Amino acid sequence: MGTAGYAETYAASVNNPEAFWLKAADLIDWDVRPQRALDDSGAPLFRWFPDGALNTSYNALDRHVLAGRGSETALVYDSAMLGSQRTYTFAELLSEVETFAGVLHGQGIRAGDRVVIYLPMIPEAVIAMLACARLGAVHSVVFGGFAATELAARIDDARPDAVVTASGGLEPKRRVEYLPTVAQALEASAHPVRAVVVTAREGFAHTAAEFDGAGGAAWLDWAMLAASARPQGPVSVAATDPLYILYTSGTTGSPKGVVRDNGGHAVALAWSMANIYDVAPGQTMWTASDVGWVVGHSYIVYGPLIAGAATVLYEGKPVGTPDAGAFWRVAAEHGVDVLFTAPTALRAIRRADPDAALTAGYDLSGLRTLFAAGERLDPETYRWASESLGIPVVDHWWQTETGWAICANPMGLDAQPLKPGSPTFPVPGFRVRIVDGAGAEVPPRAEGNIVLDLPLPPGTLATLWGSDDRYRASYLEAFEGSYATGDSGYLDEDGYVFVMGRTDDVINVAGHRLSTGAIEQIVASHPAVAECAVIGVKDSLKGQRPCGYVVLKAGAEAVEEEIQAALADLVRTRIGPVADFREVRVVEALPKTRSGKILRKTMRQIADGDDFTVPSTIEDRSVLDDLIPLLRPDPAAS
Ligand code: COA
Ligand code: AMP
Repeated sequence: MGTAGYAETYAASVNNPEAFWLKAADLIDWDVRPQRALDDSGAPLFRWFPDGALNTSYNALDRHVLAGRGSETALVYDSAMLGSQRTYTFAELLSEVETFAGVLHGQGIRAGDRVVIYLPMIPEAVIAMLACARLGAVHSVVFGGFAATELAARIDDARPDAVVTASGGLEPKRRVEYLPTVAQALEASAHPVRAVVVTAREGFAHTAAEFDGAGGAAWLDWAMLAASARPQGPVSVAATDPLYILYTSGTTGSPKGVVRDNGGHAVALAWSMANIYDVAPGQTMWTASDVGWVVGHSYIVYGPLIAGAATVLYEGKPVGTPDAGAFWRVAAEHGVDVLFTAPTALRAIRRADPDAALTAGYDLSGLRTLFAAGERLDPETYRWASESLGIPVVDHWWQTETGWAICANPMGLDAQPLKPGSPTFPVPGFRVRIVDGAGAEVPPRAEGNIVLDLPLPPGTLATLWGSDDRYRASYLEAFEGSYATGDSGYLDEDGYVFVMGRTDDVINVAGHRLSTGAIEQIVASHPAVAECAVIGVKDSLKGQRPCGYVVLKAGAEAVEEEIQAALADLVRTRIGPVADFREVRVVEALPKTRSGKILRKTMRQIADGDDFTVPSTIEDRSVLDDLIPLLRPDPAAS
C-alpha cells in the first residue's frame, strides 16, 4: 500500500490535469517527450500528449531489457487445457516480437495499417499484438468465441491487410477449428485481406496450405515466415496515433470500434499499475480474462509489461480444468501477487467448491489482492471471496471504452475502507456524476444515469473507428458536456459509487458483453418469426442470460422446441457460442406502447422479480398480463 493520499491525488488530477498527467508521463520512455498534456482544440473530442512520440512495444519490452532486466520473467503461459507451461523472459519475448514484427513487415504491414488478430489464449496472441505495436500498425483482436459473421463485420469495418490466426482453440468439450471460420469470414466480408498468417497447433484438422487462396488471401505459416524474417525495431509513432481498435457491443447489431491511442494509453496503464493495482516491476499480475476483451488488452498484455511486471496468460477455465482449484494452483505455482478476474468466475468456483476447500492445497501466501470487474461484484460473492482468501477483494468498474478503471479502490495509494456492492471511489482523472434523464444531478442514493465529465483522462477512447460522428452520437449527445456511460447507479452519502446495471440493450453474459438488439436482429431473420423481443435476465452463475420471446407469423407451423432449437442454433452460428442463447418462448403477442415500442424494460423487471412499472401509454394491458406467468423469475436464478 502506498503512502500518498487518495484524496490529495484525486484533487490534483481534477484541479490541474495538465500538470498531473505530464508528471505521470514520466513513467513512459518517450522518443519525443510531450510538452503538453491535453489538446482540447477539437472538443468535445480530446487528444492527450499531442506533441509526444513513442513506441508502445519499446515501453513494454526493450526498455526493461536495456535496464538489465532481460533475464527476468515477462510472460508465463499456463495451459490447463494442455497441462503445460512456458515462461518467456523479457529478452525472449522481445526476440519473438521483433521476429514477428519482421514477418508482418515482410507482408507489407506498415505504420497505420490494420491487422486483425483472431487467436486463442496462447503466447502468439501477446506476440502478435506487441509486433503490431512495434510497427505502429493498428491491431484489432477479435475474441475467439465469436462466429464468422461477427469476424466478417469487424474485418469490413477495420479493413485490415492481414489476419493473424491459429489452427484453433481448446474448449473443455471440444477443439474449436479456427481456419474454416476465418475462411468463411473472408468470403463474407467485402474488404479484401491480403494475407492470413496461421500459427499451427497440434491436433487440429486443418493447415494454412489447405486454405491458400481462400477469400482471395495468401494463407501463410507463421513458423515458416519467422524462419526467414528480418527482426524489426520499434517505429516511433505520435502519441495520438492509434494503437488498437477493439470492437464492443452497442445497442445495434453493428459493433463499435473503440480507438485507443498510444501515448495516453501507455501513461494511464503505467499509472494504474502502480496506483490502482500496486504492482511493481518484478512482481506478477495474473488477469484471468481473454485477450479478446479490454481487460485482457490492458491487464494481460500492456499494463503489466509496460510496468515491467510479469504477466500470466492462462488457457483454461475457473472450473472443470480440471477442478475448482485451478485458479489457486496457477496463483501458487507462478507466485501471483495480484489476481484479477470476473465475478462470474468466482461464482463458478464457489458453486463447485462452496467452502473453498481447494485453496488448502496451495500456498497462496504471496497473493495480496483480488480485483474483480466485468460486472458488479455482488455482495454475496464479495463476502465469499474475502472470507475464503483472507485478502482485500476489490471491485472496480470500467468499460471497453474507458480502457481502465473509472472507479476503484486505489491499492497503491491509501486504500479506502470497502463497501460491498460498490467499486469505491472515482479513479483520479475521472469525474463521475449521477444525473436524471434531463441531465440534472440527483441527490445521494437516488439512482440515475452515470455520466463522466469531459475531457476523460488519458487512456480512454479517442473516438470510434472511422466515425467521429458516431462517437458523438453514441456517447456525447445525451448529456451535454459529459460522456454517457450507459450504466445507471447512485452515490451514497460518503461518495461511494454503486453501479447497478445498464440503461441500454447491452447485457453481460459470463463477462461477455453482448447486445440484445443484435440477438433480436438474428432471431427476427428466421422465416417463421413475425416479431420478437430479447431481454437479459438475471442468472445466478453468468450474471445475465439472454431470453427471447417470439411471435410466429400467421400460418407458421412450429412446435416450441423446434423453433427454440432453430433460433438457438442461428444465434450460435451468427454471434457465437458465448451468447448462450437457449431460452426462447413462443407467445401470442408482445406488450407494446401505443406507438408500437415493445416494453422490454417492463418485461425485464418482471423477469428479474423486481417492482415493475407499466407505462401509461401501454396499448393493451391484457397482453402484458398474459405474459407475466411466462416471465416470472426462475427460482434457480437470483
Ligand atoms: N472460443 C470458442 N468458444 C468459446 C470460447 C472461445 N474463446 N469461450 C467460450 N466458448 C464457448 C464455450 O465452449 C461454450 O460452448 P458450449 O455451449 O458448446 O458449451 C460457450 O461458449 C459458453 O461458454 P462460457 O461463457 O465459458 O460458459 P460456460 O458455461 O462454459 O462456463 C464460466 C461458465 C463462468 C465458467 C465461464 O463463462 C467463465 O470462465 N467466465 C469468465 C469469463 C471472463 O473471464 N470474461 C472476461 C471478463 S473481464
Ligand atoms: P465491457 O465493455 O465488456 O468491459 O463491459 C462494460 C460494462 O460492464 C459496464 O458498462 C458495466 O455495465 C459492466 N461492468 C463492468 N465492470 C463492472 C463493475 N465492477 N460493476 C458494475 N458493472 C460493471
